[in-house]
Amino acid sequence: MTTPDSLAAAAAKAPGATDPTARQFAGERPAFAPELLAPPPAFAPEAARRDVPALHRSVNGQPLVWLDNGATTHKPRQVIEAVAGFYGAGNSNIHRGAHTMAREATEAYEAGRAAVARFLGAASPDEIVFVRGTTEAVNLVAQSWGRANLGPGDDILVPVLEHHSNIVPWQLVAKETRARVVPVPLRPDGQIDLDAYADRLSVRTRLVALSQASNVLGTVPPVAEMTALAHRYRARVLVDGAQAVAHFPVDVRALDADFYVFSGHKLFAPTGIGALYAKPELLAAMAPWQGGGNMIESVSFDRTDYAPVPHRLEAGTGHIAGVVGLLAAVTWLTGFDREAVAAYEAGLLEHARQALAGVPGLDVIGDAPERIAVLAFTLAGHDPAAVAAWLDRDGIAVRAGHHCAQPALAHYGLDSAVRASLALYNTPEEVDRLAASLRRMQRSG
Ligand code: ALA
Repeated sequence: MTTPDSLAAAAAKAPGATDPTARQFAGERPAFAPELLAPPPAFAPEAARRDVPALHRSVNGQPLVWLDNGATTHKPRQVIEAVAGFYGAGNSNIHRGAHTMAREATEAYEAGRAAVARFLGAASPDEIVFVRGTTEAVNLVAQSWGRANLGPGDDILVPVLEHHSNIVPWQLVAKETRARVVPVPLRPDGQIDLDAYADRLSVRTRLVALSQASNVLGTVPPVAEMTALAHRYRARVLVDGAQAVAHFPVDVRALDADFYVFSGHKLFAPTGIGALYAKPELLAAMAPWQGGGNMIESVSFDRTDYAPVPHRLEAGTGHIAGVVGLLAAVTWLTGFDREAVAAYEAGLLEHARQALAGVPGLDVIGDAPERIAVLAFTLAGHDPAAVAAWLDRDGIAVRAGHHCAQPALAHYGLDSAVRASLALYNTPEEVDRLAASLRRMQRSG
């Protein structure tokens, strides 16, 4: 998939981009310069597969086909070794010990913050708050920024395709503040209805909360354009990047996102670690949402002064090993040419669409032109849970159910579907095994 962000990232990596002379004269390059016309280098999934041990196990006597990457991704050995190495030799709490291992652990933790900032295109590591994951990040924004900035009659716009974690926290804070959660409808193909979005934006809109990629339909909305429109009404925009970060480069400043959230475990990192990016002026004004150690300057029974952000929003001991793993995951993923990875995944998605089109009675849900490699479908005559169980017997892991996106499925009159969610390490052969297994299921009646 090609996005303006990924094109920008590709331009930064284009031949000559690091050569000062080339940069100086970049504007004078003739448009027919051969390197600008050259196809992007191809990505081979084996380059990633060989690093990921879990992909080489078998399940129910069959080589594993992991097509549940939307739920979680498998971990490369670089991540596993980094986490094991931390516990094996580096284990210490951070920020408070006056000894060597505390300093080392603190350095590793803060190196992780700097890596996440670079990964997201943030201006400074201080704009990154570590959290358990996307869900906690959205709740943090809802409870800290939301309580201070929402009031009676204010609107929070939420597209119908959102994950429950980007709906329910807004419902909770809307109830407390007497604001309203306003759904933005979908078009039949699973794109956000942008006319309806524009209609619903008003001076009452305080926040737009939207995913950069849908976990169930795969839709990639025009986030930068939607954000720019929201800003014309002085609304803030929270972008849920949980499903996006593993698939294409992200640049929070190019998006002009006010908040950006993601989970490490969908990015080849451990569970229990994720990040919130927020614009510095927003972060600076955010009150603590949890109190405890690590987030204070001084405490007395008369007065407590809080630490500056981001530490003010990180009460208690963080998931230090998780940050070490996240740093390793970001380093691993960005070691590949991400433009080439995105092009590979787009080809894989097309292969999957064609392969599934050959399965009698299979209906893919949603058909947005801009999408990640996620395909939700139904199979006539079979309950989604039964389809997943059948595939599992063939060693193929998919998710079945409501995918924590009930309003999106309800848009199609469904309460359940099967979902195959692909990653850079999946192959066309694995997709063919999925289609073959589904055809066998149909033949078996
Ligand atoms: N949000 C994860 C999914 O879509 C759990 O499966």
